[in-house]
Amino acid sequence: MEKLKQQYINEFAQFDKQKSEIRRLWNIDPESANLLFFLVQIKKPKHILEIGTSNGFSSFMMSVACQNDNCLIDTIEVDEKRFNMATENLKSRKNIIIHFGKAEDIIPSLDCTYDFVFIDANKKSYINYIQQIIPKLDNDAVIIADNINSHQETTIAYKQFITASNSFTTMQLSHEAGLLISIYKKSS
Ligand SMILES: C[S@@+](CC[C@H](N)C(=O)[O-])C[C@H]1O[C@@H](n2cnc3c(N)ncnc32)[C@H](O)[C@@H]1O
Repeated sequence: MEKLKQQYINEFAQFDKQKSEIRRLWNIDPESANLLFFLVQIKKPKHILEIGTSNGFSSFMMSVACQNDNCLIDTIEVDEKRFNMATENLKSRKNIIIHFGKAEDIIPSLDCTYDFVFIDANKKSYINYIQQIIPKLDNDAVIIADNINSHQETTIAYKQFITASNSFTTMQLSHEAGLLISIYKKSS
């Protein structure tokens, strides 16, 4: 990770500056960001969907992690100010498309499938996002949901749904905000 930080020193400095100066960016915590980076490198996805861009920090991490694998990232942000910041922060990343609007409105219009999904937007809506996303999942898709520990009450419907489903194998990592990691198996 230190090598990566050296390689992208200006980008990391910009994200650190924004995080210290601007409230309510809610970027993924550093340990989870490192884990997300490694999971993308291990999975080598072709098409990532991110729900909740903020200023683009996690999109940036995933974009760097998969840049040699011809991977595309669709990321969705509803807040105009954060969408504009992400557009500026990510302008050099050629493998990211940032969609402006409510995820619930945009997901149905995405005419493709995904093999990696990162959910990090409105906690109560995780359950709605996953139900909209399921028809677009490839077999063996990896789904990561943030804030499962820090927002237990608001993410419980998502956790209960995905752990009860025979289509998903799931594990929880309880460090910091807490990630729920799931693998999707299409029923035959
Ligand atoms: C936790 S932040 C995302 C942080 C980002 N993933 C990162 O780690 O850098 C959640 C973001 O989701 C956005 N959001 C909330 N509800 C949304 C929705 N329904 N559709 C799209 N974005 C939404 C918020 O505006 C906020 O910027």
